[in-house]
Amino acid sequence: MTAEWLRDAVLYEIYPQSFADSDGDGIGDLRGVIDRLDHVASLGVDAIWFNPCFASPFVDAGYDVSDYLQIAPRYGTNDDLVELVEKAGERGIRVLLDLVVGHTSIEHPWFQAELHAAGPSPEGDRYIWTEELPDRRWVVDLPGTPSWVPSPGPRPGWYLRNFYDEQPALNFGWLEPSEPWMDATDGPGPRRNVAALREILDFWLSRGVAGFRVDMAFSLVKDFEIEGGLAASTAIWRELREWLDEAHPDAVLIPEGPEPRTGERLAFDADFELVIFQAHSSLFDNRGAGQLPFHGHLEPFFDAEGRGSTRVFLDAIARARETDRRRMVLLASADHDFSRMRCGSRGPEQLGAAYTFLFTFGTVPCLYYGDEIGMRYLPGMPDVEGAICNPGYNRAGCRTPMQWDDGPNAGFSTADPSRLYLPVDPSPDRPTVAAQDGVPDSTLTLVRELLALRRETPSLQGTASTRWSRRATPSPGCAARRTWWW
Ligand code: BGC
Repeated sequence: MTAEWLRDAVLYEIYPQSFADSDGDGIGDLRGVIDRLDHVASLGVDAIWFNPCFASPFVDAGYDVSDYLQIAPRYGTNDDLVELVEKAGERGIRVLLDLVVGHTSIEHPWFQAELHAAGPSPEGDRYIWTEELPDRRWVVDLPGTPSWVPSPGPRPGWYLRNFYDEQPALNFGWLEPSEPWMDATDGPGPRRNVAALREILDFWLSRGVAGFRVDMAFSLVKDFEIEGGLAASTAIWRELREWLDEAHPDAVLIPEGPEPRTGERLAFDADFELVIFQAHSSLFDNRGAGQLPFHGHLEPFFDAEGRGSTRVFLDAIARARETDRRRMVLLASADHDFSRMRCGSRGPEQLGAAYTFLFTFGTVPCLYYGDEIGMRYLPGMPDVEGAICNPGYNRAGCRTPMQWDDGPNAGFSTADPSRLYLPVDPSPDRPTVAAQDGVPDSTLTLVRELLALRRETPSLQGTASTRWSRRATPSPGCAARRTWWW
């Protein structure tokens, strides 16, 4: 069952570290968000998606969770989250959390228990261990790729990581276990982890949260290369969805990325065309920031030179809706892993066309905090909390503090600038909410007006049917003359 509210929704992504710091420690927190809810409501968005705000040593900005049921003390308490959910609800805004399912932190008690054990747990291992290095295929240096890491504790051997070394992969088993270290997907360790996922979902949904964006949703069962491998991960999601339909029917689950088509019923409420995926990149890629090596550069359609094509994007939308013409597709302005919408040669003049498209095309748009005022991606930012994955890929530039006004630290925090999570954009002409508020031709006004127009015009919303007409190759250099024909 798909929650109807999502169909016409607009999401707003908040990177909690950088939005608003209420206690002056230089890092954003939930109280800061509560204080700024009027701004969020003024945009006209329907739901906030928070990056992980759970207890964590923050090796990967919170994507390394050490307690899924506890808000990280630096952000506040579980009660603060409940208060935020209530106060957002009073303004018609729902709250989505980020569920990191493929791995935990090495500091999670589950991992610590296995690390300090002499061998496999009689109840089934929650992580993937081997005493002998089996296969070079699983030994790679690229962060974000499963690889064996030598055990840092009493337990002999190696464990499999999912992203950074400090993010051990949770064990959801293998479809075709062919090595001694592989459990079947219905083995006791994998089943313990599925049960734990249900408890985590239930815990937060019972506290008023509306759903989750699911990090690396298809990295559960790691038989990526064999037929049916992805289907095995999807089967777990379908099982959870069936339980949700009974226990929390309005809850939404949104995967990171498009849901693989496995020939079975879909498990998630939508596909997410995130910044990492080609369809998004064909529209908004701006080449100003680090890109993943496999990403490939496409000429973006929304660009001053106007050399790009909409083909890849339209094909992806058509694919997503092949078996369900009402299938929702989320499209982000940017996110916490890549450049912002304003980056490279795309300045405020080009943002207008990009945002008009983003908010009216018929997707579920997701606005990244700060993009409503055209905050810039800032190259050369320091490596904070695992932001730099490799020398060419720096995520810190899209994670800098929100620019509220002309006060100290752009109104983000009262801390000494040396204590800020990341430096504030130093440019004298950095955009701020205060400077754009009520100004007729500002980016902020445009975003508010577009969202208001969308709200009062059903044909611009996510559920409206869309027909697009292709016209011959656009003449080069004529970006300004393009119409909304494709
Ligand atoms: C998140 C990243 C994170 C990675 C590992 C990604 O999909 O968006 O920020 O580093 O998962 O959890």
